[in-house]
Amino acid sequence: MRRAKSILLVCMAAAFGLILISSSCAIEKATDVRGPLAETKQQRDARMQWWRDSRFGMFVHWGLYSGLAGTWKDKPVGERGGMEWIQQRVHADTWEYAHEAVPLFRPKEGFASEWAKLARRAGCRYVVFTSKHHDGFCLFDSEYTTYDAHDLVGRDLCREIVDAVRNEGLKVGFYHSVIDWHHPQYDYFKADQLPHPLKGKPSPNGPRNHDIYVDYLHRQARELFSNYGPVDIIWWDYSKKGNEGPFWKSDELMAMARSLQPAIISNNRLYHIPNIEKDDSADRLRTWKPEQGDFTTPEQTIPSTGIPGVDWEVCMTMNTTWGYSDHDHAWKSPETLIRNLVDIVSKGGNYLLNIGPKGDGSIPQESIESMRAIGRWMDVNGQAIYGTSASPYERPSWGRYTKKDRMLYVHVFEWPRNGVLEVPAAELNVTRVYLLADSDKTPLKTEKKSGALAIHVPREAPDDIVSVIAIEHK
Ligand code: GLC
Repeated sequence: MRRAKSILLVCMAAAFGLILISSSCAIEKATDVRGPLAETKQQRDARMQWWRDSRFGMFVHWGLYSGLAGTWKDKPVGERGGMEWIQQRVHADTWEYAHEAVPLFRPKEGFASEWAKLARRAGCRYVVFTSKHHDGFCLFDSEYTTYDAHDLVGRDLCREIVDAVRNEGLKVGFYHSVIDWHHPQYDYFKADQLPHPLKGKPSPNGPRNHDIYVDYLHRQARELFSNYGPVDIIWWDYSKKGNEGPFWKSDELMAMARSLQPAIISNNRLYHIPNIEKDDSADRLRTWKPEQGDFTTPEQTIPSTGIPGVDWEVCMTMNTTWGYSDHDHAWKSPETLIRNLVDIVSKGGNYLLNIGPKGDGSIPQESIESMRAIGRWMDVNGQAIYGTSASPYERPSWGRYTKKDRMLYVHVFEWPRNGVLEVPAAELNVTRVYLLADSDKTPLKTEKKSGALAIHVPREAPDDIVSVIAIEHK
């Protein structure tokens, strides 16, 4: 009897074990579906940490269009809008475009270290540059095309930029266009939502095979992820409804990125880009899939109240074009740029601010000056930007808030005429209040006043653009 029972017990244990094994297989299978993209929330948070702390990066649009500088056959193409699209604006085929543009693209020696130094001094923590834009010209050395810097300029410009950026201690990312106006199999009939310079005209080389282009896209992505050391960001551009996700075999691209570069951070432009200004953010959160991109990219616009729960980065030009143009003089002031940075960070986002170098790699003077002005401001106030998160309070008309650990930062755009600033922080157990511009941290006088903390400030603002008051609390 005892023996029978123990046999029964052994059988039950074995069966239970089998169930356990098979259910753990089921769990593994479930996670396996995403392959290298599978991770826990903690793992993802750890991967995202440096990016979330950085808050400020430099974007660079540079390629064959830069030498054309917004002029086509001696005529300005326009004063506004993206001149990296000049090939499409003038409806040139790739040969005519290359004939005009290649002679004007003459990178000077050492251009990349000028970019990287400017970025570091401005306080940027990362640089994202165009490995390939829509025109299809590659700054990297590719085995699969002769339309690259190696063949047309005799240099691997991508390597020069990656090395220079890393030398300055910054993270580096590739902007990579999945749209391609050079590749003879890029099927612009199939990509009906996407632009092409020859749209509306028959293909000059007969019917196109989109699969061949997708294969090329994947092979080049593998080169980018394999040949340049650690890549911190991949910034894909772009998809539209109907030409998204499966159209580029995006799941495979994303998995390839993470298997070759496990720590890489990716934007979500391979997939449908929702209109974040219009979409309700709570709904977005319900459908957000990190394996389709770690962050979303509001372009040229700052979400009015941020996007809680989602990582986001505003990309923005300093004038109105991404690629250099001689004709666009609509430069934003340093005041606008610094306030934009503060506004974005106070809502929990990152700022990716663009420069468009010229055909020789030199940076427009206006951009240099603005970046330097941002750098001077960051030298004094950077701690109120890096590693901070969205404001805990509604934004006041006169400024913004950011916070971190035991600190609340009050960014003042309009300095109070009456010498008193009221902050809705009466509940904080405040230990010290001072101006970041004051290296002695002389305490400012404060008092609690009907649910607010009233701070007595000096008559003059220490900074005409944004002055920051630090509130230390327990
Ligand atoms: C758009 C444009 C492109 C620019 C990019 C930056 O997708 O097509 O020219 O590079 O936005 O966000």
